Amino acid sequence: MIRSLALTRLAALLLLLLPAALVPLSPALAGDPAAGRAKAAACKTCHGLDGVARIPIAPHIAGESEVYLETQLKAFRSGKRTHEIMSVIAKDLSDADISDLAAWYASIAFTVQMPE
Ligand code: HEC
Repeated sequence: MIRSLALTRLAALLLLLLPAALVPLSPALAGDPAAGRAKAAACKTCHGLDGVARIPIAPHIAGESEVYLETQLKAFRSGKRTHEIMSVIAKDLSDADISDLAAWYASIAFTVQMPE
C-alpha cells in the first residue's frame, strides 16, 4: 500500500516534469539563425539587425529568449497581443519565419553596465 502510493507519486511527478523536459526539443523552436538574420532586414529599422532598438517605442530584443520571442510573435500574429505596428508585421510571418527570427535575435550576446 505504502509502496504503491510512492509509485503513484513518482508517476505524478514524472508527468508534471515531462512537458518541461520536452520544451527545448520542440520542433517549433528549431529555427535557423542565419536564415533569421536575412529575414531580420524587415525588422532592423526599429529593432536593429543586432536587436538594439533604433526607435524609442521599440523594445531591445537582442539576446531575448527564443521561447519568449517566438511566443510574442505568434501572439501578435494570432491577435492575442495587439500593437498597431507589430500586428501588421507578424500577420505575414510563417511559423518558419518566426522560428528563424527568434533564433537569430536569441543568438545575439549582449553585455550590460549597471549605473555607478
Ligand atoms: C516599424 C517598427 C517595427 C518594425 C519594422 C518591427 N517591429 Fe517589432 N516592435 C515594434 C514596437 C513599437 C514594439 C512594441 C510593441 C508593444 O508596445 O506592444 C515591437 C515589439 C516586438 C516584439 C515584442 C518584444 C517584447 O519585449 O515583448 C518582438 C518579439 C518583435 N517586435 C519582433 C519583431 C520582428 C521579428 C520584426 C521583423 C519581422 C519586427 N519586430 C519589426 C516595432 C517594430
